[in-house]
Amino acid sequence: SAGAVLVVRHRMRNSGKWAKAMDILREFEDRCGTPIAKLRQVADAMTVEMHAGLASDGGSKLKMLISYVDNLPTGDETGIFYALDLGGTNFRVLRVKLGGADNVKKEFTEVSIPSHLMTGTCEDLFDFIAGELAKFVATEGEDMHITAGTQRELGFTFSFPVKQSSIAGGTLVRWTKGFNIEDAVGQDVVDELTKAMERIGLDMRVSALVNDTVGTLAGGRYSNTNVIAAVILGTGTNAAYVERANAIPKWQGLLPKSGEMVINMEWGNFRSSHLPLTEFDENLDNASLNPGEQIFEKIISGMYLGEIVRRVLLKMAKEAEFFGETVPLKLETQFVLRTPDMSAMHHDSTPDLKVVATKLKDILEISNTSLKMRRVIVEVCETVATRGARLSAAGILGILKKIGRDTIKEGEEPQKSVIAMDGGLFEHYTKFRKAMQTAMDELLGEEASNNILIELSNDGSGLGAALLAASHSQYREYIES
Ligand code: GLC
Repeated sequence: SAGAVLVVRHRMRNSGKWAKAMDILREFEDRCGTPIAKLRQVADAMTVEMHAGLASDGGSKLKMLISYVDNLPTGDETGIFYALDLGGTNFRVLRVKLGGADNVKKEFTEVSIPSHLMTGTCEDLFDFIAGELAKFVATEGEDMHITAGTQRELGFTFSFPVKQSSIAGGTLVRWTKGFNIEDAVGQDVVDELTKAMERIGLDMRVSALVNDTVGTLAGGRYSNTNVIAAVILGTGTNAAYVERANAIPKWQGLLPKSGEMVINMEWGNFRSSHLPLTEFDENLDNASLNPGEQIFEKIISGMYLGEIVRRVLLKMAKEAEFFGETVPLKLETQFVLRTPDMSAMHHDSTPDLKVVATKLKDILEISNTSLKMRRVIVEVCETVATRGARLSAAGILGILKKIGRDTIKEGEEPQKSVIAMDGGLFEHYTKFRKAMQTAMDELLGEEASNNILIELSNDGSGLGAALLAASHSQYREYIES
């Protein structure tokens, strides 16, 4: 009958669309592939770029910024110091009392940055920060207060690329992540903060300016002397490591006594023909605040993973009517699907993927999905997260190779190497973390992988900044004598 013909036609149309959606999915998966051979190429390219970036300014997409940190904390640092951590959607202010290793007291507050300040003016941003800092200083209590007549000192963690001129000064190279405050580029961020503090009568000296990777490295070293590098996997991604000072041709200064220098790689800006990039990454990049830049970051970090998933689903909606005849309106909005929500869907362990259904409904206003469709969505999450995780492992291997710690030398006592890790993506996205560890194990082999440890260093960067403020304190000689 005519009715039966219609039903058959309808099914054929639907199965054609389903096949089309599956084509999009499979092609995406193919292009995101990260077999071990590819990861090795990425690691090697990373090592090559590290050399180039150390050779000369502008020698590579990897800036390999000199941090002016040539001594890492020893555990002898004492005193009360402030730290300020700016780099994501929140910023934190800390008060830290250092009384020798294992004797640290911390008080902190976290403030979210109003989004209009992230793309406004330099003065407005720093006035806001100085204001919050002053409020926090006013809460100094009995057991943690600065003696009258002593100037308060601050370690400033500023998690953007900065060309440092000293341990406590440097100019902003460019914004990354969601920030874009044009009149701040090229300015000395310590001067800007200091001026803002003066405007409200807060008397405080910035004793150290550090990237969050450098802070995390310093904080990690404080409790574990085997820490040789730090990696952030959060809103953005980056790494810092301890380099031999005489392996930095572009360094014009005196060789530090320690013979070492911490390098802020700014690996988020790494790029290589070996990276598995897709049309979605290209489109995301083109629509971003910083097109052409931070390509490694855009396929790895928390700010972008959910957005990549959204773009894949949008194509499936448009070209394969994946969510029905109309494209869900919300799915067209950039950045609606945040990485924590993607993670929640990816980790959904309910048999009928209830979490996925709820997220789709709450965030994208999509209801009536079948289990089969929800499984596809989980697969997209899996593909995006796994690619990012495995590429971060390749990046770490690149560092280990550069400093000769990727293999155990024959006849030598195996050395432990610890990578201090911080950031919400690593901390909260379990499947990401596990995929990264799996890739590390595959890349290093069992023996080496037993000696290379990745350790979560929760808010190590705040502590690290306070420690560096302490070791660069104006009162240091006085404290030490
Ligand atoms: C971005 C910043 C970098 C920072 C990283 C992690 O990549 O450019 O300085 O370390 O995010 O917060």
